[in-house]
Amino acid sequence: MTLKDRLITLIGYNRAWEIRSRLSVCGLVLACWSDFHRYRRHAYIGFGKRSRKNLRALIMKDAHRVEKGLSLAGMRPFFGERMIGHLQMLIGCYVERYGYDFYADCGLLSLRRYVGAHDAFRGQSGYEKISLVEAFCDTHRSPGFGTRVGVDTLSREEFFECADASFAQFVAGRRSVRDFSGKRIAQDTIRQAAALAQRFPSVCNRQSVELYYYNEPARVREILRLQNGNRGFGETLGGVAVITAIADEFEGVGERNQPYVDGGMFLMNFLLALHSLKVGACALNWSVGPGRDRQLKKLLGLDDGLVVISLVGVGEVSERLKIACSPRKPLGDVYRGDGTIA
Ligand SMILES: Cc1cc2nc3c(=O)[nH]c(=O)nc-3n(C[C@H](O)[C@H](O)[C@H](O)COP(=O)(O)O)c2cc1C
Repeated sequence: MTLKDRLITLIGYNRAWEIRSRLSVCGLVLACWSDFHRYRRHAYIGFGKRSRKNLRALIMKDAHRVEKGLSLAGMRPFFGERMIGHLQMLIGCYVERYGYDFYADCGLLSLRRYVGAHDAFRGQSGYEKISLVEAFCDTHRSPGFGTRVGVDTLSREEFFECADASFAQFVAGRRSVRDFSGKRIAQDTIRQAAALAQRFPSVCNRQSVELYYYNEPARVREILRLQNGNRGFGETLGGVAVITAIADEFEGVGERNQPYVDGGMFLMNFLLALHSLKVGACALNWSVGPGRDRQLKKLLGLDDGLVVISLVGVGEVSERLKIACSPRKPLGDVYRGDGTIA
Protein backbone atom coordinates (compact mmCIF):
# COMPACT_ATOMS: atom_id res chain seq x y z
CA MET A 1 0.00 0.00 0.00
CA THR A 2 1.45 3.38 -0.97
CA LEU A 3 1.60 6.31 1.41
CA LYS A 4 -1.15 7.99 -0.60
CA ASP A 5 -3.42 4.93 -0.29
CA ARG A 6 -2.78 4.76 3.44
CA LEU A 7 -3.65 8.44 3.83
CA ILE A 8 -6.89 7.95 1.90
CA THR A 9 -7.87 5.00 4.13
CA LEU A 10 -7.14 7.15 7.14
CA ILE A 11 -9.01 10.33 6.18
CA GLY A 12 -11.36 9.19 3.38
CA TYR A 13 -11.61 10.15 -0.29
CA ASN A 14 -13.49 13.40 0.21
CA ARG A 15 -11.09 14.84 2.77
CA ALA A 16 -8.11 13.78 0.62
CA TRP A 17 -9.70 15.48 -2.40
CA GLU A 18 -10.26 18.64 -0.36
CA ILE A 19 -6.59 18.74 0.72
CA ARG A 20 -5.46 18.25 -2.86
CA SER A 21 -7.70 21.12 -4.00
CA ARG A 22 -6.27 23.44 -1.33
CA LEU A 23 -2.73 22.64 -2.43
CA SER A 24 -3.73 23.41 -6.05
CA VAL A 25 -5.04 26.81 -4.99
CA CYS A 26 -1.60 27.62 -3.48
CA GLY A 27 -0.01 26.54 -6.76
CA LEU A 28 -2.47 28.70 -8.68
CA VAL A 29 -1.58 31.79 -6.64
CA LEU A 30 2.14 31.24 -7.33
CA ALA A 31 1.51 30.68 -11.05
CA CYS A 32 -0.64 33.83 -11.34
CA TRP A 33 2.06 35.79 -9.51
CA SER A 34 4.62 34.57 -12.03
CA ASP A 35 2.22 35.37 -14.95
CA PHE A 36 1.72 38.82 -13.48
CA HIS A 37 5.47 39.49 -13.35
CA ARG A 38 6.12 38.21 -16.85
CA TYR A 39 3.37 40.44 -18.20
CA ARG A 40 4.60 43.43 -16.19
CA ARG A 41 8.18 42.88 -17.41
CA HIS A 42 7.36 42.41 -21.09
CA ALA A 43 4.01 43.92 -22.10
CA TYR A 44 3.79 47.66 -22.63
CA ILE A 45 2.43 48.71 -19.30
CA GLY A 46 3.82 51.23 -16.81
CA PHE A 47 6.61 53.71 -17.34
CA GLY A 48 9.60 51.56 -18.26
CA LYS A 49 11.56 52.05 -21.47
CA ARG A 50 9.72 50.50 -24.40
CA SER A 51 11.48 47.54 -25.99
CA ARG A 52 11.86 47.15 -29.74
CA LYS A 53 9.03 44.60 -29.79
CA ASN A 54 6.81 46.94 -27.74
CA LEU A 55 7.44 49.79 -30.16
CA ARG A 56 6.91 47.79 -33.31
CA ALA A 57 3.60 46.40 -31.98
CA LEU A 58 2.43 49.91 -31.08
CA ILE A 59 3.31 51.11 -34.59
CA MET A 60 1.41 48.20 -36.15
CA LYS A 61 -1.57 48.94 -33.94
CA ASP A 62 -1.77 52.63 -34.87
CA ALA A 63 -1.02 51.94 -38.55
CA HIS A 64 -3.94 49.53 -38.54
CA ARG A 65 -6.18 52.09 -36.88
CA VAL A 66 -5.36 54.46 -39.74
CA GLU A 67 -6.14 51.78 -42.36
CA LYS A 68 -9.34 50.95 -40.56
CA GLY A 69 -10.43 54.59 -40.52
CA LEU A 70 -9.69 54.85 -44.24
CA SER A 71 -11.66 51.69 -44.99
CA LEU A 72 -14.90 52.83 -43.37
CA ALA A 73 -17.76 53.60 -45.75
CA GLY A 74 -18.24 57.12 -44.39
CA MET A 75 -14.63 58.11 -43.68
CA ARG A 76 -14.59 60.97 -41.17
CA PRO A 77 -12.30 63.69 -42.62
CA PHE A 78 -9.32 64.51 -40.37
CA PHE A 79 -10.13 61.52 -38.14
CA GLY A 80 -7.82 60.36 -35.36
CA GLU A 81 -5.78 63.54 -34.91
CA ARG A 82 -4.30 62.43 -31.57
CA MET A 83 -3.57 58.95 -32.84
CA ILE A 84 -1.78 60.36 -35.90
CA GLY A 85 0.41 62.47 -33.60
CA HIS A 86 1.09 59.43 -31.44
CA LEU A 87 2.04 57.34 -34.46
CA GLN A 88 4.52 59.99 -35.63
CA MET A 89 6.13 59.98 -32.20
CA LEU A 90 6.39 56.19 -32.21
CA ILE A 91 7.92 56.12 -35.69
CA GLY A 92 10.34 58.89 -34.71
CA CYS A 93 11.49 56.97 -31.61
CA TYR A 94 11.73 53.70 -33.50
CA VAL A 95 13.70 55.06 -36.46
CA GLU A 96 16.05 56.95 -34.13
CA ARG A 97 16.84 53.73 -32.27
CA TYR A 98 16.64 51.03 -34.91
CA GLY A 99 16.54 52.67 -38.34
CA TYR A 100 14.06 51.79 -41.08
CA ASP A 101 12.51 48.35 -41.43
CA PHE A 102 9.15 46.76 -42.25
CA TYR A 103 7.50 48.17 -39.10
CA ALA A 104 8.64 51.76 -39.59
CA ASP A 105 7.62 51.39 -43.22
CA CYS A 106 4.12 50.25 -42.24
CA GLY A 107 3.70 53.27 -40.00
CA LEU A 108 5.02 55.71 -42.60
CA LEU A 109 2.94 54.24 -45.42
CA SER A 110 -0.22 54.42 -43.35
CA LEU A 111 0.52 58.12 -42.77
CA ARG A 112 1.07 58.59 -46.51
CA ARG A 113 -2.28 56.91 -47.24
CA TYR A 114 -3.87 59.18 -44.63
CA VAL A 115 -2.43 62.24 -46.37
CA GLY A 116 -3.52 60.86 -49.77
CA ALA A 117 -7.09 60.33 -48.55
CA HIS A 118 -7.27 64.03 -47.68
CA ASP A 119 -6.21 65.28 -51.10
CA ALA A 120 -9.66 66.67 -51.79
CA PHE A 121 -9.33 68.93 -48.73
CA ARG A 122 -6.15 70.68 -49.85
CA GLY A 123 -6.42 74.42 -49.27
CA GLN A 124 -9.44 74.03 -46.98
CA SER A 125 -9.42 74.93 -43.32
CA GLY A 126 -8.00 72.11 -41.21
CA TYR A 127 -5.64 70.96 -43.95
CA GLU A 128 -2.66 72.50 -42.10
CA LYS A 129 -2.65 69.43 -39.83
CA ILE A 130 -2.40 67.16 -42.86
CA SER A 131 0.47 69.27 -44.23
CA LEU A 132 2.37 68.64 -41.00
CA VAL A 133 1.89 64.89 -41.41
CA GLU A 134 3.08 65.18 -45.01
CA ALA A 135 6.16 67.09 -43.85
CA PHE A 136 6.86 64.34 -41.30
CA CYS A 137 6.69 61.71 -44.06
CA ASP A 138 9.01 63.78 -46.25
CA THR A 139 11.63 63.96 -43.52
CA HIS A 140 11.32 60.23 -42.82
CA ARG A 141 12.07 58.52 -46.11
CA SER A 142 12.10 54.77 -45.79
CA PRO A 143 14.06 52.89 -48.47
CA GLY A 144 10.90 50.73 -48.93
CA PHE A 145 10.30 47.11 -47.99
CA GLY A 146 7.59 46.13 -50.47
CA THR A 147 4.96 46.71 -47.79
CA ARG A 148 1.32 47.02 -48.87
CA VAL A 149 -0.64 49.31 -46.60
CA GLY A 150 -4.00 51.01 -47.07
CA VAL A 151 -7.33 49.88 -48.40
CA ASP A 152 -8.45 47.44 -51.12
CA THR A 153 -11.77 48.01 -52.87
CA LEU A 154 -13.60 44.90 -54.12
CA SER A 155 -17.06 43.88 -55.24
CA ARG A 156 -18.92 41.34 -53.09
CA GLU A 157 -18.40 38.69 -55.80
CA GLU A 158 -14.67 39.37 -55.93
CA PHE A 159 -14.45 39.20 -52.15
CA PHE A 160 -16.04 35.75 -51.98
CA GLU A 161 -14.34 34.36 -55.12
CA CYS A 162 -11.94 32.43 -52.89
CA ALA A 163 -14.71 30.84 -50.78
CA ASP A 164 -14.74 27.72 -52.97
CA ALA A 165 -11.06 27.79 -53.92
CA SER A 166 -8.03 25.89 -52.59
CA PHE A 167 -7.20 26.13 -48.88
CA ALA A 168 -4.30 28.52 -49.53
CA GLN A 169 -6.57 30.86 -51.49
CA PHE A 170 -9.35 30.47 -48.96
CA VAL A 171 -7.28 31.47 -45.91
CA ALA A 172 -5.71 34.34 -47.82
CA GLY A 173 -9.18 35.45 -48.92
CA ARG A 174 -10.69 35.63 -45.43
CA ARG A 175 -10.40 39.17 -44.24
CA SER A 176 -12.02 41.28 -41.58
CA VAL A 177 -14.99 43.14 -43.00
CA ARG A 178 -16.15 46.50 -41.72
CA ASP A 179 -18.49 47.39 -44.56
CA PHE A 180 -21.97 45.83 -44.27
CA SER A 181 -25.40 46.31 -45.84
CA GLY A 182 -27.18 46.34 -42.46
CA LYS A 183 -29.25 43.21 -43.24
CA ARG A 184 -29.93 41.00 -40.22
CA ILE A 185 -28.17 37.61 -40.26
CA ALA A 186 -30.48 34.78 -39.20
CA GLN A 187 -29.87 32.51 -36.19
CA ASP A 188 -29.91 29.54 -38.61
CA THR A 189 -26.94 30.85 -40.59
CA ILE A 190 -24.85 31.34 -37.47
CA ARG A 191 -25.93 27.94 -36.18
CA GLN A 192 -24.59 26.46 -39.41
CA ALA A 193 -21.28 28.30 -38.95
CA ALA A 194 -21.13 27.09 -35.33
CA ALA A 195 -21.62 23.51 -36.52
CA LEU A 196 -18.65 23.87 -38.89
CA ALA A 197 -16.55 25.59 -36.22
CA GLN A 198 -17.23 22.67 -33.88
CA ARG A 199 -14.57 20.71 -35.75
CA PHE A 200 -11.93 22.75 -33.87
CA PRO A 201 -9.26 20.82 -31.96
CA SER A 202 -9.47 21.19 -28.19
CA VAL A 203 -7.54 20.00 -25.18
CA CYS A 204 -8.58 16.36 -24.50
CA ASN A 205 -11.52 16.94 -26.85
CA ARG A 206 -13.34 18.83 -24.11
CA GLN A 207 -14.77 21.36 -26.58
CA SER A 208 -15.27 23.77 -23.71
CA VAL A 209 -16.88 26.61 -25.63
CA GLU A 210 -20.29 28.19 -25.94
CA LEU A 211 -21.36 30.60 -28.64
CA TYR A 212 -24.16 33.10 -28.04
CA TYR A 213 -25.67 35.01 -30.92
CA TYR A 214 -27.86 38.11 -30.97
CA ASN A 215 -29.44 39.75 -34.00
CA GLU A 216 -32.18 41.88 -32.50
CA PRO A 217 -31.05 45.46 -33.35
CA ALA A 218 -31.66 46.99 -29.89
CA ARG A 219 -29.77 44.14 -28.20
CA VAL A 220 -26.92 44.36 -30.73
CA ARG A 221 -26.60 48.09 -30.00
CA GLU A 222 -26.50 47.44 -26.23
CA ILE A 223 -23.72 44.89 -26.65
CA LEU A 224 -21.70 47.07 -29.01
CA ARG A 225 -21.90 50.00 -26.60
CA LEU A 226 -19.73 47.94 -24.24
CA GLN A 227 -17.09 47.22 -26.94
CA ASN A 228 -14.47 49.73 -28.04
CA GLY A 229 -13.55 48.63 -31.57
CA ASN A 230 -16.71 48.95 -33.66
CA ARG A 231 -16.93 52.69 -34.16
CA GLY A 232 -17.89 53.63 -37.71
CA PHE A 233 -19.32 50.24 -38.71
CA GLY A 234 -21.08 48.73 -35.67
CA GLU A 235 -24.41 50.21 -36.69
CA THR A 236 -24.34 48.33 -40.02
CA LEU A 237 -23.78 44.86 -38.49
CA GLY A 238 -26.42 42.16 -38.91
CA GLY A 239 -25.71 40.50 -35.56
CA VAL A 240 -23.12 39.89 -32.86
CA ALA A 241 -21.77 36.59 -31.61
CA VAL A 242 -20.15 36.19 -28.20
CA ILE A 243 -17.52 33.45 -28.08
CA THR A 244 -16.95 32.07 -24.60
CA ALA A 245 -14.97 29.27 -22.97
CA ILE A 246 -16.26 27.32 -19.98
CA ALA A 247 -13.87 27.74 -17.03
CA ASP A 248 -15.65 24.93 -15.13
CA GLU A 249 -14.29 22.44 -17.65
CA PHE A 250 -10.60 23.11 -16.98
CA GLU A 251 -8.47 21.70 -14.24
CA GLY A 252 -5.48 22.59 -12.09
CA VAL A 253 -2.78 25.23 -12.30
CA GLY A 254 -1.42 24.19 -15.69
CA GLU A 255 -4.72 24.81 -17.44
CA ARG A 256 -5.31 28.31 -16.10
CA ASN A 257 -4.86 29.88 -19.56
CA GLN A 258 -6.29 26.99 -21.56
CA PRO A 259 -9.75 28.60 -21.95
CA TYR A 260 -8.09 31.29 -24.10
CA VAL A 261 -6.30 28.75 -26.26
CA ASP A 262 -9.33 26.56 -26.89
CA GLY A 263 -11.64 29.56 -27.20
CA GLY A 264 -9.21 31.17 -29.67
CA MET A 265 -9.09 28.01 -31.78
CA PHE A 266 -12.88 27.95 -31.93
CA LEU A 267 -12.95 31.65 -32.79
CA MET A 268 -10.61 31.08 -35.75
CA ASN A 269 -12.66 28.16 -37.04
CA PHE A 270 -15.84 30.20 -36.65
CA LEU A 271 -14.38 33.08 -38.69
CA LEU A 272 -13.36 30.66 -41.45
CA ALA A 273 -16.77 28.97 -41.33
CA LEU A 274 -18.51 32.32 -41.72
CA HIS A 275 -16.33 33.12 -44.70
CA SER A 276 -17.20 29.78 -46.31
CA LEU A 277 -20.88 30.65 -45.87
CA LYS A 278 -20.25 34.07 -47.43
CA VAL A 279 -21.07 35.96 -44.27
CA GLY A 280 -18.83 38.96 -43.59
CA ALA A 281 -17.25 39.05 -40.14
CA CYS A 282 -14.96 41.03 -37.90
CA ALA A 283 -13.69 39.76 -34.56
CA LEU A 284 -14.28 42.42 -31.91
CA ASN A 285 -11.81 42.39 -29.03
CA TRP A 286 -12.99 41.76 -25.52
CA SER A 287 -9.84 43.23 -23.94
CA VAL A 288 -11.61 44.64 -20.92
CA GLY A 289 -11.30 44.84 -17.16
CA PRO A 290 -13.46 42.81 -14.76
CA GLY A 291 -16.10 45.55 -14.39
CA ARG A 292 -16.92 45.70 -18.11
CA ASP A 293 -16.92 41.91 -18.24
CA ARG A 294 -19.49 41.77 -15.45
CA GLN A 295 -21.62 44.38 -17.28
CA LEU A 296 -21.77 42.22 -20.41
CA LYS A 297 -22.58 39.08 -18.45
CA LYS A 298 -25.32 40.87 -16.56
CA LEU A 299 -26.77 42.29 -19.77
CA LEU A 300 -26.87 38.89 -21.46
CA GLY A 301 -27.49 36.75 -18.38
CA LEU A 302 -24.25 34.81 -18.97
CA ASP A 303 -22.88 32.48 -16.32
CA ASP A 304 -19.96 33.82 -14.25
CA GLY A 305 -17.92 30.73 -15.19
CA LEU A 306 -17.83 31.72 -18.85
CA VAL A 307 -14.64 33.36 -20.07
CA VAL A 308 -15.49 35.79 -22.84
CA ILE A 309 -12.88 35.27 -25.55
CA SER A 310 -14.07 37.68 -28.21
CA LEU A 311 -17.14 39.14 -29.82
CA VAL A 312 -17.67 38.70 -33.55
CA GLY A 313 -19.63 41.20 -35.62
CA VAL A 314 -21.33 39.56 -38.61
CA GLY A 315 -23.25 40.93 -41.55
CA GLU A 316 -24.05 40.89 -45.21
CA VAL A 317 -21.07 42.29 -47.07
CA SER A 318 -21.79 45.52 -48.98
CA GLU A 319 -22.11 45.30 -52.77
CA ARG A 320 -18.82 47.16 -53.05
CA LEU A 321 -16.56 47.19 -50.05
CA LYS A 322 -13.32 48.63 -48.78
CA ILE A 323 -11.00 46.40 -46.79
CA ALA A 324 -7.99 47.36 -44.69
CA CYS A 325 -4.87 45.70 -46.14
CA SER A 326 -3.54 44.59 -42.72
CA PRO A 327 0.00 43.85 -43.97
CA ARG A 328 1.70 40.79 -42.52
CA LYS A 329 5.02 40.84 -40.70
CA PRO A 330 8.02 39.50 -42.59
CA LEU A 331 7.87 35.69 -42.31
CA GLY A 332 11.30 35.70 -40.65
CA ASP A 333 9.83 37.53 -37.64
CA VAL A 334 7.24 34.77 -37.23
CA TYR A 335 8.92 31.57 -38.35
CA ARG A 336 12.04 31.33 -36.22
CA GLY A 337 13.08 27.84 -37.25
CA ASP A 338 15.19 26.19 -34.56
CA GLY A 339 15.97 29.55 -33.00
CA THR A 340 19.39 29.93 -34.61
CA ILE A 341 18.09 32.20 -37.38
CA ALA A 342 19.15 35.79 -36.67
C1 LIG B 1 -9.39 38.71 -31.02
C2 LIG B 1 -9.49 39.78 -32.08
C3 LIG B 1 -10.05 40.99 -31.75
C4 LIG B 1 -10.22 41.98 -32.73
N1 LIG B 1 -10.83 43.15 -32.39
C5 LIG B 1 -11.14 44.04 -33.34
C6 LIG B 1 -11.92 45.19 -33.02
O1 LIG B 1 -12.30 45.41 -31.88
N2 LIG B 1 -12.24 46.04 -34.03
C7 LIG B 1 -11.85 45.81 -35.32
O2 LIG B 1 -12.21 46.61 -36.18
N3 LIG B 1 -11.09 44.74 -35.66
C8 LIG B 1 -10.75 43.84 -34.70
N4 LIG B 1 -10.04 42.71 -35.02
C9 LIG B 1 -9.66 42.47 -36.42
C10 LIG B 1 -8.16 42.69 -36.65
O3 LIG B 1 -7.90 44.06 -36.74
C11 LIG B 1 -7.77 41.95 -37.94
O4 LIG B 1 -7.98 40.57 -37.74
C12 LIG B 1 -6.31 42.17 -38.33
O5 LIG B 1 -6.09 43.50 -38.71
C13 LIG B 1 -5.92 41.27 -39.51
O6 LIG B 1 -6.73 41.54 -40.62
P1 LIG B 1 -7.60 40.41 -41.35
O7 LIG B 1 -8.56 39.84 -40.32
O8 LIG B 1 -8.33 41.14 -42.44
O9 LIG B 1 -6.69 39.36 -41.85
C14 LIG B 1 -9.81 41.73 -34.05
C15 LIG B 1 -9.21 40.51 -34.36
C16 LIG B 1 -9.06 39.54 -33.40
C17 LIG B 1 -8.46 38.21 -33.77
